[in-house]
Amino acid sequence: MTGAGQARRAEGSIGDMTGNSRQVESNQAGPHRGLGALVARPLREPWRKPVAAHNRPALDALAARRALDPRPLVLDSFCGTGVSTRALAARHPDCLVVGIDKSAARLAKHGEAGEGYLLLRADCEAVWQVLAGEGVRLAAHYLLYPNPWPKAAQLKRRVHGHPAFPLLLELGGALELRSNWRLYVEEFGIALHLAGVRSAVSAVPGGEPLTRFEAKYRASGHGLWRCRAQL
Ligand SMILES: C[S@@+](CC[C@H](N)C(=O)[O-])C[C@H]1O[C@@H](n2cnc3c(N)ncnc32)[C@H](O)[C@@H]1O
Repeated sequence: MTGAGQARRAEGSIGDMTGNSRQVESNQAGPHRGLGALVARPLREPWRKPVAAHNRPALDALAARRALDPRPLVLDSFCGTGVSTRALAARHPDCLVVGIDKSAARLAKHGEAGEGYLLLRADCEAVWQVLAGEGVRLAAHYLLYPNPWPKAAQLKRRVHGHPAFPLLLELGGALELRSNWRLYVEEFGIALHLAGVRSAVSAVPGGEPLTRFEAKYRASGHGLWRCRAQL
C-alpha cells in the first residue's frame, strides 16, 4: 500500500471497502411478536442503571467539551471508526457532533479527530442516560447500522428491544436509524409507533456513503433502509 493509502486507512476511510458482505439471515419472518410487551415495560418504568466506571472518562470528556462548546448536540451513536461523525460535523456546522462507540480498536482507526466534533469510547446507553438525566435535548441523533442481532432470541439486544430505548425519546431531535436489514428498520418504526411517535421508513438515498458499513453493504448490492422521526 502507498503512503497515501496507509494514511487513508488510518483515518478509517471508506474507499477500501469490498463488496463481499452477506445479507442478514434471521429466523424471524416478520416483526417480533414480543416487541409490544418489551417496549411497553421500560416506557412505564424508565431504565436507569449505575454508570459503569469504564464510561467515566468519556463522560468527563463530554462534560468538559460542552462547558467550552455550548452548541446544540448531535449524536452519532454506534459510530464505528467515526467516518460518519466527521461527515455529520460538516453537515451540522452549528452543532457539536459526538460520535460514540464502545470499540477502542474501531475508534483508533479514525486517527486524530477534527476540531468540529468529538469521538468517545463509551457504551451509548450510558451516554444517553446521563444526557437525558441532565435534561439535554438533541438537535439530531443518528444510529447508523447498529449490530442487527438477527436471531429472534436476540430481540433485547436490538436498539428498540433494549430497555434503554425510551431514552432516545427523551433525548429528542431528528432521529434517523439505518440498516441493511429492512425488518430491523420496520421493527424500530413499530416500536416508535407503540411509544406514540410517528416515523417514516424509506430507502437510503444513493450518493456518497455516510459510513464504512454503508459503503460495504452498498458495494455488496444490499438494500439499505432508514427510519426517520422528528421527536
Ligand atoms: C455494525 S458497526 C457500524 C459502525 C458504523 N456506524 C458504520 O456504519 O460503519 C456497529 C458498531 O456498534 C458498536 N457498538 C455495539 N454496541 C454498542 C454499545 N452498546 N455502545 C457503543 N457502541 C456499540 C460496535 O463497536 C460497532 O462499531
